[in-house]
Amino acid sequence: MKRIAIFASGEGSNAEAIVKYFINKENIEVSLVLTNRCNAGVTNRLLPYGIKINYFTKQQWDDAVEVLELLIAYKIDLIVLAGFLAIIRKPIINAYEGKIINIHPSLLPRHGGSGMWGIHVHRSVIESGDKHSGITIHYVNEDVDGGKIIAQYKCDVGKDDTPELLAERVHQLEYRYFPQEIEKVLLRK
Ligand code: GRF
Repeated sequence: MKRIAIFASGEGSNAEAIVKYFINKENIEVSLVLTNRCNAGVTNRLLPYGIKINYFTKQQWDDAVEVLELLIAYKIDLIVLAGFLAIIRKPIINAYEGKIINIHPSLLPRHGGSGMWGIHVHRSVIESGDKHSGITIHYVNEDVDGGKIIAQYKCDVGKDDTPELLAERVHQLEYRYFPQEIEKVLLRK
């Protein structure tokens, strides 16, 4: 059995899509969900699935000690960032080198880096006049949005798009492709 830990800070719609995808798989499971926001939407959303959900304070994320202890206790094989808005500290990056992946809601390297999250990304895409946007699934290293790219999927940017409309189109790509890319990464390990 391969075990996934999802890190999420927000609504958790990607986290839920991932949980649903793996729910009936025999060889892969979502074992843990960790958050840095005590009132994050992801907590309520995932409650019905009976997965262990743990909140850690900023201090605990910065120390990384308790987070690492939990990951090790649950024998986690892959950490999946699904809208996780905190910096992953060095001890976690080192302990899980090549085993942390993230999804970014644009075609990196465009519209990535510090400050580029959520609706800010889609606003930046529209303001730049890009004709396409999409998603990037990539490994995580110490550079924000700078790790090796695993896969990218494109969508059109309409001339009348608002950031919210574009966000919805990009979300649909995320739900469709992120779980299967996670599975491919795990099956290669
Ligand atoms: C997604 O668009 C993801 O690409 C980005 O943060 C957003 C999270 O949305 N990293 P949700 O919490 O999964 O609904």
